[in-house]
Amino acid sequence: MSVQENGHHHDGKQQRFPPGTHGDSLEHPTGIQEFHLLHAEDPSKIFFTEEDKKKIQEFVSRYPAKESAVMPALWYAQEKFGWLSIEAINLVADTIPMPRADVQGVASFYTMYWKKPMGKTHLAICTNISCMLCGAYELYNYIKKTYGIGNGDVTPDGLLSLEEAECLGSCGTAPVMQVNNYEYIENLSLEKLKDFLKSRGL
Ligand code: FES
Repeated sequence: MSVQENGHHHDGKQQRFPPGTHGDSLEHPTGIQEFHLLHAEDPSKIFFTEEDKKKIQEFVSRYPAKESAVMPALWYAQEKFGWLSIEAINLVADTIPMPRADVQGVASFYTMYWKKPMGKTHLAICTNISCMLCGAYELYNYIKKTYGIGNGDVTPDGLLSLEEAECLGSCGTAPVMQVNNYEYIENLSLEKLKDFLKSRGL
């Protein structure tokens, strides 16, 4: 899957997830979600130092094919810049080096790569089958209603963002929520969620 800088396929059609594959599926039956690769606010700040470049080459040296370094390299860029602008994605491509379109494809496919600035606290709530059966939508919809945000949205103050996640690989402790791409909160309940939000001053 590759997209050009304007978020369109090379055939001119807008990139969309196929119906029913992701995104607020219980409330929006079409399940269509769009994404666009955005420019950095200040592209002059999107660069790698010599140390960063060394780190990327260290990723490259781990694999028989340099293209395999794309995921850790994108992750590194996201950690450094906060999210993946088109400039950051292209920087990763040029540093590895590999075709920009291929790196754009990887970055746009995986939801853990943020294609826009997310909230200071980013909550990814799994709504796949185990979590759904254990009440994930009650939790997801609580956040939606309480903070007025939907899938992929950020509150106007930038403090909170929400994501409806696919299976987070912890089905045995459903429902599960991932915080800022790292911390897992398992066996989540509405009470536990409210306590967590309070602890973050939200
Ligand atoms: S279904 Fe939610 S973690 Fe697997």
